Amino acid sequence: MGHDHLIELLDLDAEVLHEYFRDVIGWVGREAAERPHVVDLGAGSGTGSLALARELPDSTITAVDLSPEMLAHLRGRADAAGLGDRIRTVEADLDQPWPDLGPVEVIWAAASMHHMADPATAVASAFGALRPGGLLVIAELDSFPHFLTGTADEEMERLGHAEAAKRRHEAGLHMHENWGERMRQAGFTSVTERHFDIDLRPPLPAATIRYAQASLSRMRHGLEERLSARDLAALEQVVAGLATRADLSVRTGRTVWLARR
Ligand SMILES: C[S@@+](CC[C@H](N)C(=O)[O-])C[C@H]1O[C@@H](n2cnc3c(N)ncnc32)[C@H](O)[C@@H]1O
Repeated sequence: MGHDHLIELLDLDAEVLHEYFRDVIGWVGREAAERPHVVDLGAGSGTGSLALARELPDSTITAVDLSPEMLAHLRGRADAAGLGDRIRTVEADLDQPWPDLGPVEVIWAAASMHHMADPATAVASAFGALRPGGLLVIAELDSFPHFLTGTADEEMERLGHAEAAKRRHEAGLHMHENWGERMRQAGFTSVTERHFDIDLRPPLPAATIRYAQASLSRMRHGLEERLSARDLAALEQVVAGLATRADLSVRTGRTVWLARR
């Protein structure tokens, strides 16, 4: 399962969880300097970059990612939204010494810090890249979205999530870091931590079904070597049945840390 599926999933994440994104970006906007240069670390399909450009109309954005496919998609979305002249893209591996990004007032890292090889080095690099008074915002997932309730399918979904969490842990992803502590250790001050418990109940917009399909089929794909043939087939059935369900909900948790250099 390649970039196209992840791009679709990230775009749907932004669409379905738009209230959460609006809330967080509003918070950043209130704390940020005027006319900020914002760096979106691990920008992916552009959720953060586009929302930041819209909500902070006097900002300029640099979207950094390892993946040229992600950056090409982001560029297309930015141009289509008429924001292309305020968003530039930089292809870089953030596990290597960071490129010179110019003076930076805000660093936004959503669901990307857990990918970094060494969390302490990544936070220290962010400290080094920011101007004094600049903000580092790290948003991470406490839990991946759950969609099903009150049926046998919910049990299957839970089993899949538990196995996927083990897989991420074994792959060395830093899913449950204390980023606030990392920020303090790197020299940041005024570290604030906010939890967002997202619980969207039906009736939900049509994109919710596509979001559930994209999330659960990506999860199932990642478990091919790990679940029994029976469990894989059961999970596949769950995914196939999503299209006609009117009872989906979206339950997920996010934590956001905001700190000042
Ligand atoms: C889960 S996606 C999150 C994308 C986006 N921030 C969002 O909130 O939708 C993680 C992104 O981090 C990027 N990434 C992972 N490791 C990276 C690295 N070492 N350097 C730069 N980008 C990286 C991936 O290519 C991917 O686009």
